[in-house]
Amino acid sequence: MDLGLRGKTVIVTGGGSNIGRAIALAFAKEGANVVIAEIDEKQGQKVATEAKAQGGSAIAIETDVTDNESVQAMVKKTLDLFGEIDVLVNNVGWTYDRLFIEKPREEWEKEIKLNFWSMINCTRAVLDNMIERQYGRIVSISSDAGRIGGFREAVYGGCKGAVIALSKSLARELGRYGINVNVVSPSTTIPESSEHVGPESMWAPGGLEFTPEILEKMAKTYPLRRLGNPEDIANAVVFLASDAAAWITGQTLSVDGGYAMM
Ligand SMILES: NC(=O)c1ccc[n+]([C@@H]2O[C@H](COP(=O)([O-])OP(=O)(O)OC[C@H]3O[C@@H](n4cnc5c(N)ncnc54)[C@H](O)[C@@H]3O)[C@@H](O)[C@H]2O)c1
Repeated sequence: MDLGLRGKTVIVTGGGSNIGRAIALAFAKEGANVVIAEIDEKQGQKVATEAKAQGGSAIAIETDVTDNESVQAMVKKTLDLFGEIDVLVNNVGWTYDRLFIEKPREEWEKEIKLNFWSMINCTRAVLDNMIERQYGRIVSISSDAGRIGGFREAVYGGCKGAVIALSKSLARELGRYGINVNVVSPSTTIPESSEHVGPESMWAPGGLEFTPEILEKMAKTYPLRRLGNPEDIANAVVFLASDAAAWITGQTLSVDGGYAMM
């Protein structure tokens, strides 16, 4: 199937680590011009180099997606380089698992900024170009915590539910301009190597940690009896951003081995 992504300009936020890395590499493989919007430029550069080594086109632009000015500068640079933006993948997100009653306020604020403000900033910033061209695909990464709730993930789950609700409203408002807005909802998706995460990743030392025994127990709760690979998520994102998904908008697809059946 030709996904029609060759030559398209695709922005992937947080494309330097884990799921974002796999998404950036998957679009590069399809022949898209990939812009990795990363706060960790070094890690973003590393993934861009990997994509180029595989024959793709990718660059990293240092961006803080929680800072509207930084996002606008990244979008301007992308337009200066490629002239258009076809696809935005709102991938940046963050949590540290902790009970609601034990969470310090700073952690809630970080969760709200990285999971929700990031999406608002980046989505608004690409829309003028997409509306002018009457074409666009926006795919945002939620989480099953936002669909069925997550133990020790209350505010994170709230933000991920907001990602879904915002996408549905945007799908209604933007469909008339040829812009599709969809969501991919992963469940636990562990980095395949420590090389695939940078220091700002939630999987960096001091962040989310699971022992092999816990991971094994978790896998047994999934109908398909394994946890996610970053490529599982990337495949769904690439599909939803492609011409093959032209008639799909306002939808949320759980990619999670059957963990959340909605
Ligand atoms: N990995 C999972 O198990 C899982 C499960 C459900 C949902 N998700 C969601 O999938 C998405 C990706 O998850 P992941 O595990 O790959 O995350 P990750 O923490 O490994 O990677 C996030 C990337 O974003 C970058 N980043 C952090 N702050 C930034 C900022 N302010 N501006 C720009 N870039 C910034 C980091 O440098 C890092 O490269 C997130 O939205 C997450 O909530 C992940």
